[in-house]
Amino acid sequence: MTIIDIINKKRLKKELTREEIKFAVNGYLDSTIKDYQMSSLLMAILLNGMTDRETIDLTDIMLKSGDIIDLSKIDGIVVDKHSTGGVGDKVTLVLAPLLASLGIKIAKMSGRGLGHTGGTIDKLESIKGFNTKISEDKFIEQVNNINIALVGQTGNLVPADKKIYALRDVTGTVESIPLIASSIMSKKLASGADIIMIDVKVGSGALMKTLEDAKELARIMVKIGKSYRKPTICLITNMDEPLGYSIGNSLEVQEAINTLKGNGPKDLLEVVMTLSSIIIGAVNKISNSDAKDLLFKQLNNGEAYNKFVELVQAQGGDINKIAISNKVYSIKSNKEGFINHIDALRLGEIAKNLGAGRNTLDDKIDYEVGLVLNKKVGDYVEKDEELLKVYAKDKGANVNEIINCFRIDKELEAVPKLILDIVK
Ligand code: URA
Repeated sequence: MTIIDIINKKRLKKELTREEIKFAVNGYLDSTIKDYQMSSLLMAILLNGMTDRETIDLTDIMLKSGDIIDLSKIDGIVVDKHSTGGVGDKVTLVLAPLLASLGIKIAKMSGRGLGHTGGTIDKLESIKGFNTKISEDKFIEQVNNINIALVGQTGNLVPADKKIYALRDVTGTVESIPLIASSIMSKKLASGADIIMIDVKVGSGALMKTLEDAKELARIMVKIGKSYRKPTICLITNMDEPLGYSIGNSLEVQEAINTLKGNGPKDLLEVVMTLSSIIIGAVNKISNSDAKDLLFKQLNNGEAYNKFVELVQAQGGDINKIAISNKVYSIKSNKEGFINHIDALRLGEIAKNLGAGRNTLDDKIDYEVGLVLNKKVGDYVEKDEELLKVYAKDKGANVNEIINCFRIDKELEAVPKLILDIVK
């Protein structure tokens, strides 16, 4: 078997055997297969796809390339929640303590942000002292004690994905459904949870641009999960405008705290409630409306917020020290009308360029900067009324570029639905 035969076979749209996929992945990991050869194979996969069997085999081979976390020492059903990445996506910061306050075990390993989307770990680190690097033993102990731990990836989890993802990022091969599905699911399966919940974002600010692609990604991820007997549920949600009002690390933590105290924005709350009620329904076998009642009670009686404070304290953070830049300026609308679209992708990039995100994993980020919308899609704006606030520090933002992210018309168009589908 040679890598050239494997590349040629995929170029000719033929199905690869498990042995061939294993040869390519393991050979790339031990560097006997070179970057240029793997790039060529990845491009052939992007163009010609993979069958479900190939995708499941690829996931399994990647999963077994490194450590697999054993969470059997945690009493009860452990839930993991993942998002394919969006702008202003602070769902985990609300959902995780909310569910933990109801006794659900949340043992979550999260990633850092890259490009225009933020990462939960960066957001948590904007709380002074919050330690996201705890040992596996402490991680398990904390989940047993307080039902929740949110940490960065520990150990040598799916090294094949780490190496292949870095190559995909620089060779235009990220946007392949079988490659995305195997990348996400190998990491979720290696993290050891009993139930996997995935928020598949679709729209201009997301990796999946069409509902059709999002549904296909969800379908194959659910199928992969089932092949390991792990219930996997995908919610497909709209990411045409940022979620909630704030974009940027500290600003998003602040919005999550407000939501945990019962004062959250409607769209954020809708995603949190839909995901959480599905999880509660799956774990406690109760109806969706009973689950929603329970969840609202936890937001309104302070229990969800108290759980977040407990989490922050357990991981060494100081809830009263979340710094936000005081260099704030307001961006005003240059016309009146209805806001029919807000470009989430561009606003995510503008926030990143202010310092809220990174271009490479080595870049340092500034937790204090970002954007806070004053208007959402469907709202009416007067001329000279505020569209958003910029929280800046060392770097500025171009006013016209921000204004151009808002499409303002005389007539109001139908406001797009937020929850588009559930695949399980
Ligand atoms: N997130 C991942 O973890 N992998 C992908 O391929 C895309 C998004």
